[in-house]
Amino acid sequence: MGADAGADAAARGADSTAAVSSRSDAAGGAPSAAVAAGKGASDARTAGASAAGYLVVFVIGLLAGLVLVVVMLRTLDARKTWQDRYPTALMQLYQAQMAQLSATLDANRCAPAETVSHLHTMRALSNDLEPAFPDLRDHRGFVAHAADARRVLDAALATPPQDCARLRTTLHAIGETCNACHQDMRG
Ligand code: HEC
Repeated sequence: MGADAGADAAARGADSTAAVSSRSDAAGGAPSAAVAAGKGASDARTAGASAAGYLVVFVIGLLAGLVLVVVMLRTLDARKTWQDRYPTALMQLYQAQMAQLSATLDANRCAPAETVSHLHTMRALSNDLEPAFPDLRDHRGFVAHAADARRVLDAALATPPQDCARLRTTLHAIGETCNACHQDMRG
């Protein structure tokens, strides 16, 4: 019974829709223009939706590409041997020692107890300049600068700086050996 009533209502609805559309046909172009406008709006909606779709695909592609690049870089990095890393590693250790010595100077803690261990470390690191740069082993400038760095550190260890003024001079002399080699290797 309820279903019949529903079907009746649906039939009536269909009738009245037909009536409306026949009336609007009779009235001429304006309503069909309205229909066309409605279609245009729905076209715009479709275009907007597909643009959003392209954007999503683009962003997904971009993220996938980024992940791939990171994976590739990590793979390449994992393949490096200690020989590949040693030049940079050695120089970073030098820099770390120099930074700590500068910090003790800035803090006015210039007693040999604070500084000599760093000088020892730098002297030991200097033994490895040639192994770290095997390509430069036969480069006369490089070898001379390496020997120079060792000589300056040997002198600093032979008479360790007792106060801040002398520590400053020592750090300056060591820094000169760093710069001399860098300039020669770059030029
Ligand atoms: C005998 C030569 C030589 C001496 C002495 C030397 N260096 Fe270097 N240093 C190099 C070379 C060659 C490079 C370039 C390394 C490379 O990029 O492969 C370099 C690069 C560096 C870098 C950049 C490393 C990086 O991250 O790529 C730092 C920092 C550095 N040196 C610090 C120092 C300090 C501090 C001293 C002195 C205590 C010093 N070096 C003494 C030859 C030298």
